[in-house]
Amino acid sequence: MYIVSYNPTYVGIPFTEFSTIDENTDLENLNLNWREQDLPERVRTKHVHRLHPYLGKFIPQLVEIFLRKYRPNSVLDPFCGCGTTLVQANELGIKSIGCDISIFNCMISKVKTDKYDLSILQSEILELINKLKFEYPYHSENDFSDYLKTWYSQKSLDDLFHFKETLESFTYNNLYKVILSRAARSARLTTHYDLDFPKKPIRVPYYCRKHSRICYPVKEANKFLIRYCNNTFKRIVEFAEYRTDADVVIINGDSSNVVFPKVDIVITSPPYVGLIDYHEQHRYAYDLLNLPSNDHHEIGSATNGSGQKAQKEYKKAMMKVYDNLKTAVKRSGIIITIINDKYNLFNPDKFGFVEEMRLKRHVNRRTGMRKSNFFEEILIWRNK
Ligand SMILES: C[S@@+](CC[C@H](N)C(=O)[O-])C[C@H]1O[C@@H](n2cnc3c(N)ncnc32)[C@H](O)[C@@H]1O
Repeated sequence: MYIVSYNPTYVGIPFTEFSTIDENTDLENLNLNWREQDLPERVRTKHVHRLHPYLGKFIPQLVEIFLRKYRPNSVLDPFCGCGTTLVQANELGIKSIGCDISIFNCMISKVKTDKYDLSILQSEILELINKLKFEYPYHSENDFSDYLKTWYSQKSLDDLFHFKETLESFTYNNLYKVILSRAARSARLTTHYDLDFPKKPIRVPYYCRKHSRICYPVKEANKFLIRYCNNTFKRIVEFAEYRTDADVVIINGDSSNVVFPKVDIVITSPPYVGLIDYHEQHRYAYDLLNLPSNDHHEIGSATNGSGQKAQKEYKKAMMKVYDNLKTAVKRSGIIITIINDKYNLFNPDKFGFVEEMRLKRHVNRRTGMRKSNFFEEILIWRNK
């Protein structure tokens, strides 16, 4: 057993030769402190990774490194979010199992990893776009929740509901629901610079910090629906080149009590304490699609804060999940956790695992385009 704990070195160019990784690669020698120019956003969000915005995802190439190093037959991500681990595993022909408490996150993971007949997909997408060109009736206020009435113009809601009513009869309607949700996110009455955490609806022109000019609140959703229909098709076609037939299983549930099948390895990035509300970030999707919420089972939600009580509850909940992982991972199997553990809650002894290695990397830029001076740790543990 050896433990490496080091501060990132900024000497030399960060490592990007991902396909060269194999079981002989020394992880501790890799410079993983990518800057924007080393691993640009378009590469981090290649093909299906950008089917829908999601705050808090990890970098696909980081997952790829561990999958190539350990070459498992099966991988489990108990906090699969929008499916980064599952997509990367599938590309490498590795069977994957993902679990998430949020049904919408499971839906994103599923549509990313599903197999599509591209000619059916193309004709359905063209038909959906075509239908948007025709006149359709206004919806009544009673069709909309208070949240929707607050955050959208009447025209945007008419566009979104018309699309929603149309897609039901189509083959790949889950994929179109994700397009609908992506358009709904863009059509909210918010400023261009505040799409991640909008505070209040904006119904009048405003000075836009992002574009340095006066911008106008969004009036309609159809332009986003058309844009994302085309973009989604392009991304699915791109991924089809890499997609394998390796199984992908997605479970919507609480990872502390789901009975997982046996796997070789776990790769995951758990929610942090008090940072993000994972249901709430997609509130528009829950309201538009009438999805059931499981937010009270969300671990570490921002609503519960990051005080001592929240930390204690978080640790208890995490230990329960990791207890469950002990039975899922084969003996001596590897558990990789990517986390910003600023409260030192992840102690391998207390969690009942053996520490193999601990790496630290500087997160120069995250997928949500937020600049921050932020470090994350990569905890590599072995099951007893
Ligand atoms: C940091 S995110 C994971 C992001 C993921 N690595 C990706 O790239 O998309 C943590 C995820 O844990 C989920 N989660 C929170 N509590 C959970 C629980 N009790 N069981 C399963 N998933 C949970 C959240 O819904 C969220 O999607």
